[in-house]
Amino acid sequence: MSRVVVTRAVPEAAVAVLHEVAEVRVCDQDRPLTPDELREAVRGADGVVAMLHDRIDADLVDAAGDQLEVVANVAVGYDNVDVPAVTGRGVTVTNTPGVLTDATADLAFGLLLSVTRRLGEGERLLRSRTPWNFHLGFMLGTGLQGKTLGVVGLGGIGQAVARRARAFGMHIAYTGRRRAAQEIESELDARYLSQDELLRTADVISLHCPLTDQTHHLIDDAALAQMKPTAIVVNTSRGPVIDEKALARALQEGRIGGAALDVFEHEPEVDPGLLELDNVAIAPHLGSATTETRTAMAELAARNVAAVLTGQPPLTPVTA
Ligand code: DGY
Repeated sequence: MSRVVVTRAVPEAAVAVLHEVAEVRVCDQDRPLTPDELREAVRGADGVVAMLHDRIDADLVDAAGDQLEVVANVAVGYDNVDVPAVTGRGVTVTNTPGVLTDATADLAFGLLLSVTRRLGEGERLLRSRTPWNFHLGFMLGTGLQGKTLGVVGLGGIGQAVARRARAFGMHIAYTGRRRAAQEIESELDARYLSQDELLRTADVISLHCPLTDQTHHLIDDAALAQMKPTAIVVNTSRGPVIDEKALARALQEGRIGGAALDVFEHEPEVDPGLLELDNVAIAPHLGSATTETRTAMAELAARNVAAVLTGQPPLTPVTA
């Protein structure tokens, strides 16, 4: 029988799918496996269900052995996988697109509202038992209606955020490597802009691009310098898309208006400068963290493994 290793606890529904086709070992420690532990864990596995913090590269595939057929990443992002190296060794790589789109878009919008309406700040005020009273100038935020959302990467999640923004009366601009399909542009009334133009004109800049060599530190000092002094940066993609130190400096010096961050450059660390600022809403990588979504992600990963181990095409393969 095939052997599947799951590198971190997953919902039971996913384990049940794997049990139909393989002997399953779930590593249930309460932290990511170290690289050495990961290499040891995958030895002899035919399939691996991996998490976004597991580095999957040629070395790991070699440690697993020639029998390895599939690595299923329980995430839509797969910057933790050296795809050319892994697929080049004949191993299928899969991810979990689609099933986390709404949850991530909801979280992006929630964090955005938290910054613009100062929800975290208000909550901290109350929890600190600080006296307060209602008056017309008390804790004023900023409305979103009539403002422009600039989406960097109008893929599934970017579109879902744009749809939410439209419901809040925002205008949509976007940038990216490719223009979106005509129907999407029409549905969202979305204007395609160059990256520079988007950075200069958007009130909210929401990042939805994958982390690649090209997008690493896409938001750096130079990009921040182009933004409006009131601009708000939202990141639910991957931390290293932003130069976190540069962002902290821009916020501390009041060069931009705020930030809404679900992901960080050196997770689980967060730049201490960001933690001091009231105009920063932060969450510990919760984009897909609903019971329904995490179950759907793990089940999709398990189905990908089951498909490959039974000679079927994977449902959601990643190609180099
Ligand atoms: C993903 O799937 O890439 C997300 O970051 C997980 O929440």
